[in-house]
Amino acid sequence: MFDIIVKGGTLPDGRVTDIGITDGRITAIEPLETNARETIDATGDLVSPPFVDPHFHLDATQSYGTPRINASGTLLEGIGLWGELKQVMTIDDMIARALTYCDWAASMGLLAIRSHVDTCDDTLKGVEAMLEVREQVKDYIDLQLVAFPQDGLYRDPTARANTIRALDMGLDVVGGIPHFERTMADGAASVRELCEMAATRGLRVDMHCDESDDPMSRHIETLAYEAQRLGLHGRVNASHLTSMHSMDNYYVSKLLPLIAEAGVSAVANPLINIMIQGRQDTFPKRRGMTRVKEMQAHGITVGWGQDCVLDPWYSLGTADMLDVAFMGMHVAQMSSPDEMARCFDMVTQQNAAIMGLDDYGLHVGANASLVILDAADPIEALRLRAARLCVISKGRIISRTPRMDASLSLPGRPETTRRRHRTS
Ligand code: FE2
Repeated sequence: MFDIIVKGGTLPDGRVTDIGITDGRITAIEPLETNARETIDATGDLVSPPFVDPHFHLDATQSYGTPRINASGTLLEGIGLWGELKQVMTIDDMIARALTYCDWAASMGLLAIRSHVDTCDDTLKGVEAMLEVREQVKDYIDLQLVAFPQDGLYRDPTARANTIRALDMGLDVVGGIPHFERTMADGAASVRELCEMAATRGLRVDMHCDESDDPMSRHIETLAYEAQRLGLHGRVNASHLTSMHSMDNYYVSKLLPLIAEAGVSAVANPLINIMIQGRQDTFPKRRGMTRVKEMQAHGITVGWGQDCVLDPWYSLGTADMLDVAFMGMHVAQMSSPDEMARCFDMVTQQNAAIMGLDDYGLHVGANASLVILDAADPIEALRLRAARLCVISKGRIISRTPRMDASLSLPGRPETTRRRHRTS
């Protein structure tokens, strides 16, 4: 007797099958004739493992407009604005805003999030708040917290000590922002020290890295070198890498094999990259997103991240990883069927690999976490940013959304109901 059977859904690889769930785990993926406490008919719909966001800022989300908006739209004004805001925010306020975002995420089938938490604040109230949120959502969202010295590990006088304190308090991942240190040399030194900190503590690394239009920004080179030197293969992620867009092509031809050899992954954040970068350009204007397809061609794992929703850097966003992938596939010109399907894989399997999630995916023994989408396949899900009809987390149904049918009353035509924009 299963707790839940999901009947007749189409998996991302095209298989049509049933999924049996018992005690929070997937216990069967095959045609099932037995009973369950609850049976969900997913005939004709896509059944996917949950969406995963490997790059977000939960401490800042939903603060848009407080105390003012980012007039220039640049990264640097956003950092300055956040600096004003974090002085006046309370722990309760941060928890409430983050929990609202987690509600949105749950309803969109986004069940794992890696969030950077600003450690440049002597009170570390953001750290305290996000630890509380991690605890409150743990039964339905896997939240990884990155110790992130937003104002620079060395540039901010107490950032180093506070980052160490934050890790001692229980944050999961070591972050950094080398391009925001005072000099390239300080940036490189920060990468070295932070990677050593992670190696000593047995933690993963995820740095904001080369988030600029500067073609000479070279911190990814140092990050790959340190990952190699310290044996951190598969445990280091470089977020943004927007400078790679502008780098010399010869240099990139040397760089990409070094990143691959070091087992360093990358996360592009297309909504934010395309909005923030290139602000000093006239025309032609750079896209400001890293070289996604080119890294993948070298065997580098690349994911799509959301980064920001309604905060000092970005005034939009809905916790929908299909929106993120949709923008990414346009900016990276990933238009072939294989590339479009890969964009869906990036916001599910690839992002899960970057976060090192155990028990993720649709296989027997995995966590029973999945999402049923109002789409026939991954490409249609992207095209429609399809409704999440049902979201199951760790064996529990946590969200349902009605199918978006349109009732048509057209002159000269019989009244009809169509599944909105679906081809099947
Ligand atoms: Fe970020």
